[in-house]
Amino acid sequence: MSDPMRPRASLRTAVVWEVLQDALDRRVKATGRETLDVLDTGGGSGNFAVPVARLGHRVTVVDPSPNALFALERRAAEAGVADRVRGVQGDAHGLFDVAERGGYDAVLCHGVLEYVDDPAEGVRNAVAALRADGVLSVLAAGLGGAVLARALAGHFTEARHALADPDGRWGEGDPMPRRFTTEQLTALVEDAGLRVTAVHGVRVFADLVPGVLVDTEPGALDALLKLEATAAELPAFHSVATQLHVLGEFERADEV
Ligand SMILES: C[S@@+](CC[C@H](N)C(=O)[O-])C[C@H]1O[C@@H](n2cnc3c(N)ncnc32)[C@H](O)[C@@H]1O
Repeated sequence: MSDPMRPRASLRTAVVWEVLQDALDRRVKATGRETLDVLDTGGGSGNFAVPVARLGHRVTVVDPSPNALFALERRAAEAGVADRVRGVQGDAHGLFDVAERGGYDAVLCHGVLEYVDDPAEGVRNAVAALRADGVLSVLAAGLGGAVLARALAGHFTEARHALADPDGRWGEGDPMPRRFTTEQLTALVEDAGLRVTAVHGVRVFADLVPGVLVDTEPGALDALLKLEATAAELPAFHSVATQLHVLGEFERADEV
């Protein structure tokens, strides 16, 4: 899904996209259906929804922002997938006013739990939207990555503030309402009734590396992408990732 005009954009999405694509492929094989029904809660302007639709799936995007939905419509049309992307105004708490309970093979909840009033309810609703055997994909801001970034920028007091703050914010000026540790995010998914089947650290190095190193050194972007992909798998690096990605799936009867 990387944008050839903006190669560095792939650093933000590559790890999540690989994991998500693989999870969707597994659902296709398991269901025997080529076209899955996917719900993207807080899907915004379609960073993930449009590429998922390009794989051939039907995507419903629920988002409170009319501007984001307008941009989504335009982007889906430009990508030639307008017939497979439906944007509806709504939010994670009133999800079933606009989305079908138990109606989706996959639910995406990317970059949303940071903003909702009640993350636990947001995840419970996302899980309730899944069909039996569906898969949940959650992406959220990681605490450790923000602490590291503030410290490396010389903002040591802010870094320490984020460590002690219940929402992981570094101060009043922090634009991020909430961040999560791996333990907090996986607990939200498990408490909603799913088994965590994968955890990945996203943007472990990308936000710390000076842009000039990536943009001018031949092959550097590719090497950094490979480094990110390898580190994403390693729990030691999850605690310093800018974002955390968690996959949740229902316990299979033969595993209980
Ligand atoms: C950081 S953007 C993420 C967009 C997209 N999911 C992505 O990964 O690119 C956060 C999105 O969450 C939406 N949002 C904010 N509050 C929400 C809520 N209570 N329920 C659902 N979406 C919400 C915003 O409108 C925005 O589109």
